[in-house]
Amino acid sequence: MTDTPPLRSRAWFDNPDNIDMTALYLERYLNFGLSLEELRSGKPIIGIAQTGSDLSPCNRHHLVLAERVREGIREAGGIAIEFPVHPIQETGKRPTAGLDRNLAYLALVEVLYGYPLDGVVLTIGCDKTTPACLMAAATVNIPAIALSVGPMLNGWHKGERTGSGTIVWKAREMLAAGEIDGDAFIRLVASSAPSTGYCNTMGTATTMNSLAEALGMSLPGSAAIPAPYRDRQEVAYLTGKRIVDMVAEDLKPSDLLTRAAFHNAIRVNTAIGGSTNAPIHLAAIARHVGLELPIDDWQAVGHDVPLLVNLQPAGEYLGEDYYRAGGVPAVVNQLMGRGLIHEEALTANGRTIGDNCRSAAIEDERVIRPFDTPIREAAGFLVLRGNLFDSAIMKTSVISPEFRERYLSDPADPDAFEGPVVVFDGPEDYHARIDDPALGITTDTLLIMRGAGPIGYPGAAEVVNMRPPAQLIAQGVHSLPCLGDGRQSGTSGSPSILNASPEAAAMGGLALLQNGDRVRIDLREGTADMLVADDELARRRAALTAAGGYAYPASQTPWQEIQRSLVGQMETGAILEGAEAYQRIAQT
Ligand code: FES
Ligand code: MG
Repeated sequence: MTDTPPLRSRAWFDNPDNIDMTALYLERYLNFGLSLEELRSGKPIIGIAQTGSDLSPCNRHHLVLAERVREGIREAGGIAIEFPVHPIQETGKRPTAGLDRNLAYLALVEVLYGYPLDGVVLTIGCDKTTPACLMAAATVNIPAIALSVGPMLNGWHKGERTGSGTIVWKAREMLAAGEIDGDAFIRLVASSAPSTGYCNTMGTATTMNSLAEALGMSLPGSAAIPAPYRDRQEVAYLTGKRIVDMVAEDLKPSDLLTRAAFHNAIRVNTAIGGSTNAPIHLAAIARHVGLELPIDDWQAVGHDVPLLVNLQPAGEYLGEDYYRAGGVPAVVNQLMGRGLIHEEALTANGRTIGDNCRSAAIEDERVIRPFDTPIREAAGFLVLRGNLFDSAIMKTSVISPEFRERYLSDPADPDAFEGPVVVFDGPEDYHARIDDPALGITTDTLLIMRGAGPIGYPGAAEVVNMRPPAQLIAQGVHSLPCLGDGRQSGTSGSPSILNASPEAAAMGGLALLQNGDRVRIDLREGTADMLVADDELARRRAALTAAGGYAYPASQTPWQEIQRSLVGQMETGAILEGAEAYQRIAQT
């Protein structure tokens, strides 16, 4: 390249105007084994933002892959410096991993900004590690490429695929119905995790890794490769090589993360049956790169796209099948055929997404369906509004035929359902009371989860998908409509209305709801309302305000307290509101 910009690492290692500091910086980076020659050579310094650790088993294989990334970096003429990212593991972190996305983001911003890095390889995987890394790269805006760790191999039990998370919902029902005991429950769930890697279902991990590729932030075809496959090692090497060229080309996140790229990602999300966490994370990434991605875009841009990928929980297959069937490029190719992809969007390999995916074929039509024979038409999210919240979303691709029949086939209004509510204040309340017969839960009941948003349950818990009480499961009722201000695991197939903003803890309408109130949902109109008179709602609001507002548990750690005071609502990404003012900071 003729117009290579000066490397920012030169300010540390080769600064004639500040020889004192240069010497100080140099001596301490020398002492882990780098040579003066290397550090003063003018070679780009490439960070490897390491999210893998013993505490983050989903991403732990990155400790192995980083060796190949290093070799790629060196092969292309760069110097690798690996450093840890605050660990996040979706299922292991109390009270919820959602709390740590913004913490990992903050810490990574500090590292990328404050150290002599010219570019970075973001090692992504487990749910929140991907948005945390992409958000930080968006803020700092140095050349960045994401490397997925890849999904686990398929899980198997008695000849059937057992998928991460999805098997847990099923096993819980079996346990509640007395079909299996505790030991069998654990064996069944463990069967879904046969190797290193992240969740093998289309949960939030597979979703966000697929969307990182759709956004152009990783090499084409790389997202779906299972963690243990040799191809995963190969793409780690190629990713390391590529980031060095990206630095030379000065190809930055702001060049890739355009509105066109986000709209591509929204459509890909529908076609893959992606997680309801995606709107939160994409809004967050967009805001940090300086774009607004309104929640309405999810319905306007994404709803009419069909579901093509037949992965659990919406379908049958798992991660290995997804890769063998063609992964993200095959999906993008199908959407391109209908003009649903902005083909000019630039990607990390320096080519457009159109060029990358133009010849990507489906290799197994059982797993990735052609556009004309989808698993489901119009499978994207619906955005709902009403006196319960300003916005919430519903994932239509997981609504079962039985559910449609039971709740959505009122001849007078086939898109509406209505019923009395039973309200739970946080997951502990739900777990303590769900099987209590005194609640009077029937097949007409809507289950409400509140106090589970970014403030109420700091970080927002994945708890809105609630199973029916054991007595209903024993009668064959496997799901009830659920609604709440928390999130839902991407591995859940429950018909739920999620991410309600503002949450009860921010005095959204959900805070005013009482047991026995009737709620009406109209999917065609996009409304969700409690059928309670306005003057009664005003009276309840005044009483609750006088009592000090909606009560939620005290913070247990300093970060919980800090996050609660700064975090926004899920509709706008649940980011730390003050952080948005800092954009493209590597250039300032
Ligand atoms: Fe880490 Fe699913 S729990 S990827
Ligand atoms: Mg999850």
